[in-house]
Amino acid sequence: MNISGSHSIGFLLTIYFGTAYVALTREFVKFVFQDQRAIDLLHWSKDTYSPDEHFWVTLNRIPGVPGSMPNASWAGNLRAVKWFDMEDKHGGCHGHYVHGICIYGNGDLKWLINSSSLFANKFELTTYPLTVECLELRLRERTLNQSEIAIQPSWYF
Ligand SMILES: *[C@@H]1O[C@H](CO)[C@@H](O)[C@H](O)[C@H]1NC(C)=O
Ligand SMILES: *[C@@H]1O[C@H](CO)[C@@H](O)[C@H](O)[C@H]1NC(C)=O
Ligand SMILES: *[C@@H]1O[C@H](CO)[C@@H](O)[C@H](O)[C@H]1NC(C)=O
Repeated sequence: MNISGSHSIGFLLTIYFGTAYVALTREFVKFVFQDQRAIDLLHWSKDTYSPDEHFWVTLNRIPGVPGSMPNASWAGNLRAVKWFDMEDKHGGCHGHYVHGICIYGNGDLKWLINSSSLFANKFELTTYPLTVECLELRLRERTLNQSEIAIQPSWYF
């Protein structure tokens, strides 16, 4: 899939829409706080409905911005999500679907743990408390496994 729509503001920026889930380099964050284009875009965005869906992807497309990806596509794998119409790819939802997106159940843990994504959606703590709890325990253990200093028992959940 490719970017579906774009508009221009001033003579400078093409506005792109896309993911609101991002991983940023320190240099890019510096740019966001200091560059006039980023500051102007933020001010302009105050009038928009869902700025998180255009702010990051628009800045990411500006050539020359530190760490930017002017040729980025729509797709990314930062966020794990099981779409209803992609069951052949992910093998099905073990919780239930809401608006075509899987609310993860316990049976989705294997898939989630195997995912390389930094984020996952969606979870419902009250419906599937164990899913969140197990994932939390697992991520904690994985983090502590990489500790370079002696681990205190109290650091485990
Ligand atoms: C990005 O796309 C432009 C125009 O299609 C092309 O000229 C350029 O080589 C591409 N750059 C990279 C890094 O792929
Ligand atoms: C785990 O992830 C790899 C790489 O994305 C994939 O090839 C493999 O099928 C996955 N395994 C499971 C059990 O989902
Ligand atoms: C953490 O390390 C232990 C011991 O090496 C290993 O058995 C366990 O699978 C690791 N846990 C995770 C979540 O990586």
